[in-house]
Amino acid sequence: MRLDKYLADMKCGTRSEVKKLIKAKRVKVNGEVMKDASYDVLRSDVVTLDSEEISYVEKEYYLLYKPAGTVCALEDRKYPVVMELIDSRRKDIFPVGRLDLDTEGALLITNDGKLAHSLLSPKHHVEKTYYAETENDLPEDAEKLLETPMDLGDFITLPAKAKVLSSRSAELTVHEGKYHQVKRMFEKIGAPVSYLKRISFGGLDLTGLEKGDFRSLNEEEIEDLKRQTEDPA
Ligand code: URA
Repeated sequence: MRLDKYLADMKCGTRSEVKKLIKAKRVKVNGEVMKDASYDVLRSDVVTLDSEEISYVEKEYYLLYKPAGTVCALEDRKYPVVMELIDSRRKDIFPVGRLDLDTEGALLITNDGKLAHSLLSPKHHVEKTYYAETENDLPEDAEKLLETPMDLGDFITLPAKAKVLSSRSAELTVHEGKYHQVKRMFEKIGAPVSYLKRISFGGLDLTGLEKGDFRSLNEEEIEDLKRQTEDPA
């Protein structure tokens, strides 16, 4: 991106105003005065105006296949954090919600705080689908039990969607993301979870990703997530 557009996008002035700033030698790239308004700013460049760093604020959206043994936090004393798996220059990205230490699967990472907040709100009913294996056999009426609102003590689950896959495995789609929700739901029906993986989040699944891999979302996927958080008219 051209230096003058970069500065204009970052609200340093209009395109002609920033050209004047550049001419007046008030803009530096990597510590050197840059007089060429058409200079192509690289991602790694540090641009300053009157010595104040002007970083290009843009939203980033990643889907990570979180491996077990990683923590959904910005830092942790004991375990590697999911952020270490994302190769981004941005310092302000964070995981949207949490998966437990031993849970793997689809995790959205972004610096779009507004979208993250909306995606986590039960009001918007964003679907999260989990694959679970259980320590013992699921009850015969497992699907009905999991789908019907369930009192977990601190809250009552919204209607969910369940599909039993075998005597000890099932998929469960929920709309909330309460603490240990899925494990607590299976526990409640007498079949504690032995393995848990989130296979999709808001329609984004793990296709093409290996454990520990991440990819950027495309425009269509970002728009689709935003659509899911729109309030009904
Ligand atoms: N529900 C859980 O119990 N654990 C997770 O990691 C995610 C949902």
